[in-house]
Amino acid sequence: MATEQTQDVAVDGAGSAGSESLSVTDNRTGDTYEIEITDGTVKAMDFRQIKVSENDFGLMTFDPAFTNTASCRSAITFIDGEAGVLEHRGIPIDQLCERSSFLEVAYLLVFGELPTQAQLDTWVHDITHHTYVHENIKKFVEGFRYDAHPMGMLLASVGALSTFYPDAKKLDDPEERYLATIRLIAKMPTLAAFAYRHNMGLPYIYPDNDLTYPENFLSMLFKMTEVKYEPDPRLAKALDVLFILHADHEQNCSTNAVRAVGSSEVDPYSAVAAGVAALYGPLHGGANEAVLRMLRRIETTDNIADFLEGVKNREERLMGFGHRVYKNYDPRAQIIKKNVDEVLEATGENPLLDIAVELEKHALEDDYFTERKLYPNVDFYSGLIYEALKIPTEMFTVIFAIPRTAGWIAQWLEHMDDPEQKIARPRQIYTGEREADYVPIEDRSGAETIDGPPAKRPA
Ligand code: CMC
Repeated sequence: MATEQTQDVAVDGAGSAGSESLSVTDNRTGDTYEIEITDGTVKAMDFRQIKVSENDFGLMTFDPAFTNTASCRSAITFIDGEAGVLEHRGIPIDQLCERSSFLEVAYLLVFGELPTQAQLDTWVHDITHHTYVHENIKKFVEGFRYDAHPMGMLLASVGALSTFYPDAKKLDDPEERYLATIRLIAKMPTLAAFAYRHNMGLPYIYPDNDLTYPENFLSMLFKMTEVKYEPDPRLAKALDVLFILHADHEQNCSTNAVRAVGSSEVDPYSAVAAGVAALYGPLHGGANEAVLRMLRRIETTDNIADFLEGVKNREERLMGFGHRVYKNYDPRAQIIKKNVDEVLEATGENPLLDIAVELEKHALEDDYFTERKLYPNVDFYSGLIYEALKIPTEMFTVIFAIPRTAGWIAQWLEHMDDPEQKIARPRQIYTGEREADYVPIEDRSGAETIDGPPAKRPA
């Protein structure tokens, strides 16, 4: 227990103001403070009043990676990680996957309620009629090297959209907000497909307004010499379900990036480009690509035991397992697993599925994983579906970005209207030197060598 002389701060639970506050005693000064509890949270700024002297900056909270910090109020997506629950605007994800369509879910995320038939028709019409991109975007994508990662191309081309729509900077104009929303959701599949066709050395395919959102995407990916591309309805349906499953996931790394960058009042295309960049990372959207590489490396079910030993010895990571929020089966993984069979029925068997199923079984029987509550996440099976659709691994994260754009824009809109928000600007605990003197270069020891860690070498 802290004494008056230590640097500790004791937090005592219920205080004199009742169960809706904390009584906090600063053992450095003996002073006690009442900190209000609202919605199961305390305000970090309420701790700033806790000081040892007048000149003291005040107490800060320290939360690297925001593991226990709510950065906003949001009415878009609810997750109960312990119970494996995911709801959009209160509607469970399994109902949406079974009964809705991706574009309807996008409407739900953006506007907060399910549309009437007339509203849905207008929404679908507007999105369908904004799928074309300016011809210069095509030239821009053509400028990339033949083997450029499609996620890098998507990141750049989404950012480039801001230069085509300068009026999107009028952040308070509802018409501009609507246009940016429509354009982002509509053009993302076109940009994604252009990136894919670029890698394949194939001509880019323009959108086909007669097709549904997922059908049109399949057409832009795979159309060859046929006059009209006719997608397999089973594949279009599976893709639509995958889109619904990836539409939003509350304050994850990329959504946080969109909100943080958007908080500077940059245009929404640039804010969404930040989301694409965040999604690119292997610990976030890049995980499904990593899962496929992992399954290929494992090669046969005979190697699973050895592979899992490597994971337990921390030489490997079991990609597609574990989640910051879900400490139970990711509900999205369950829905995807059901879809895998239907897709494989249309496309033929995939030997990697056997490895995935066996790997999951082994991991779930192993204390190392169950003790740490590591279960398959959405990415464990989604890659197998994409592969069955003959989509190369580099495209997986790109396809994740298409539906997540609906979530990003819904979160961005909510953020822009939130009076509690201002420009995102975290604090730090400074650990470096202070008041050091500038040393002329000739007097610096070791200046003649570039040995040392790469970070110390000149760029
Ligand atoms: N394989 C092996 N061990 C793991 C894994 C894994 N995939 N994930 C977590 N652990 C271990 C971790 O080493 C730690 O063990 P210990 O306590 O002994 O040090 C323990 O489990 C707790 O993990 P954590 O690091 O506290 O978990 P986190 O919440 O920081 O990380 C995660 C979440 C998703 C980054 C991590 O589980 C991971 O790297 N998974 C693999 C990548 C992946 O599949 N990502 C997709 C996430 S779902 C898509 C999305 O929403 O973006």
